[in-house]
Amino acid sequence: MNAAYSTDGQYIHPSILNADFMSIGTELDKISSADSVHVDVMDNHFVPNLTFGPAMVEQIVERSTIPVDAHLMIDDADRQAPVFAEAGASSVTFHLEAARAPIKLARDLRRKNTEVGVALRPATPVEPLLDVIGEFDMLLLMTVEPGFGGQSFLDSMLPKIRRARAAISASNLEVSIQVDGGVSRETIERCAEAGANVFVAGSAIYQAQDAAQEISALRELARAHSAH
Ligand code: DX5
Ligand code: ZN
Repeated sequence: MNAAYSTDGQYIHPSILNADFMSIGTELDKISSADSVHVDVMDNHFVPNLTFGPAMVEQIVERSTIPVDAHLMIDDADRQAPVFAEAGASSVTFHLEAARAPIKLARDLRRKNTEVGVALRPATPVEPLLDVIGEFDMLLLMTVEPGFGGQSFLDSMLPKIRRARAAISASNLEVSIQVDGGVSRETIERCAEAGANVFVAGSAIYQAQDAAQEISALRELARAHSAH
């Protein structure tokens, strides 16, 4: 059982992708009431955007008062993901599409005392993963095409969330389902009802007048509509 991703709870992970990078310390302070900070790592190859490397992640880990949830949108996950665990991320999520040996990688990461997530692009089916889902602490189902913040939530992902949650429950496993992309007060209830329990929100939180208030509003909605 892991601390950050107990499936009994509903967790809000603000993404700093659309934060003000010139004032990253203050931007982190705004979200200190959240459960983790979601850091989107992009290599301009797996996705057409470039963001943080391991040195920046290490500094965010040092500065943040809450755990760091690293979402790696990078190629060659087998070689690169362990570097982010060594940088101090509490959880490291790699894309299935970017890993040659995802189970071996998950085991390597766990040995580095990090929680492990596996992520799927919207058009990647979840079914082939379900037999081995117990190798992971978390399944990240993207609800937009990865690469940029501020995109519209894909409602077509809801059945995938439902099928994944049903399979995880049927196997009596403790695997969290994280949703990422277009999560807001308008869409979080549908995600929670479908079985997600970890919610990434970038623009909804950083464009709000009061980030802390937005975090608690999202948390309340997620709890009220939890599938558990
Ligand atoms: C997209 C990233 C997301 C993104 C979410 O590739 O993985 O974490 O920042 O931003 P919003 O909530 O604005 O869709
Ligand atoms: Zn993300």
